[in-house]
Amino acid sequence: MSDYLQTTRDVYKEAAESPQIGLCCTTTPVWRLPGLNMPQRMLDMNYGCGSTVHPRDLDAGNRVLYVGVGGGMELLQFAYFTRATHSVVGIDSVPEMLDACRANLQTAAEQNDWFTPDMVELRAGDALSLPVEDEQIDLAAQNCLFNIFREDDLKQALREMYRVLKPHGRLILSDPICDDEMPESLHQDEKLRALCLSGALPLEQYVGLMTEAGFGTIEIRARRPYRILDPRSYNTDRRIVTESVEIAAIKDPMPEDGPCIFTGRHAVYIGADELFDDGKGHTLLHNQPLAVCDKTADALKSLGRNDIYITESTYFYDGGGCC
Ligand SMILES: C[S@@+](CC[C@H](N)C(=O)[O-])C[C@H]1O[C@@H](n2cnc3c(N)ncnc32)[C@H](O)[C@@H]1O
Repeated sequence: MSDYLQTTRDVYKEAAESPQIGLCCTTTPVWRLPGLNMPQRMLDMNYGCGSTVHPRDLDAGNRVLYVGVGGGMELLQFAYFTRATHSVVGIDSVPEMLDACRANLQTAAEQNDWFTPDMVELRAGDALSLPVEDEQIDLAAQNCLFNIFREDDLKQALREMYRVLKPHGRLILSDPICDDEMPESLHQDEKLRALCLSGALPLEQYVGLMTEAGFGTIEIRARRPYRILDPRSYNTDRRIVTESVEIAAIKDPMPEDGPCIFTGRHAVYIGADELFDDGKGHTLLHNQPLAVCDKTADALKSLGRNDIYITESTYFYDGGGCC
């Protein structure tokens, strides 16, 4: 095992044994749902940098895989929606984290009459070699783990998620990204990497690795400020701004003309007719915004028409649209 993976295990063994409030977490509010009570220790062990739980991704009877369990908060949130025995599979490579998660889920069962711990199956395993058979999973999720991996390992982790998902299954990721150039001094720092501070890639590069793994549709669902690595506190001569993103990578077939990447862009037709049809499957009703992927937005823009208005990326895409 590489040194940085061992350092990561050591960091999360410690974080399992004594909760470290503030590690990773960001401004994303914790889900408040009727009848969902979160044990305090589970909240203290919220080591995610966003949310991977979006109810609209889930259907009755779905099987969820969650890699890198932490204190179990998102496992409990997924179980809130799935509510069946072993409907959520949680995998972690740190035995102490699995123990802590198991104990928190036990406490959760005492505080939530709808929840029984057998809804969640915890397995020891590694994101780089998932103990799950091919095409078994409807929805896979990871929160604040993949950013830790070096590029080759990240590619392997994405390939593993792709392998275990059913066709059209969804991988939901929440991770830091960094569009500033990360100084080598920080990039190579194993401890900072393990703490989700210095492994972050530029968004475009990260998305590129997802599409390289085969995911044909990508949705950028949220983008928020994360940590600032400032020369006053870190070994860097310039300020590095990191952000956290929530992304859905969907195992749709890869379109011949490349992936559909939704970043929150819209097209609005404001011409003289009732609608505009681009002849490629996109119909813009008069003055009604249509969410479009970046590929379609660029193609419509290249028509050079002044009766089609195209918005910029908001990075808050929440469904609907052209493809
Ligand atoms: C930053 S924490 C995130 C925990 C959880 N996802 C959350 O949002 O609170 C990273 C998690 O990944 C686990 N982990 C670290 N390396 C792993 C690996 N190679 N495979 C699986 N899990 C790993 C850690 O034990 C820890 O539970």
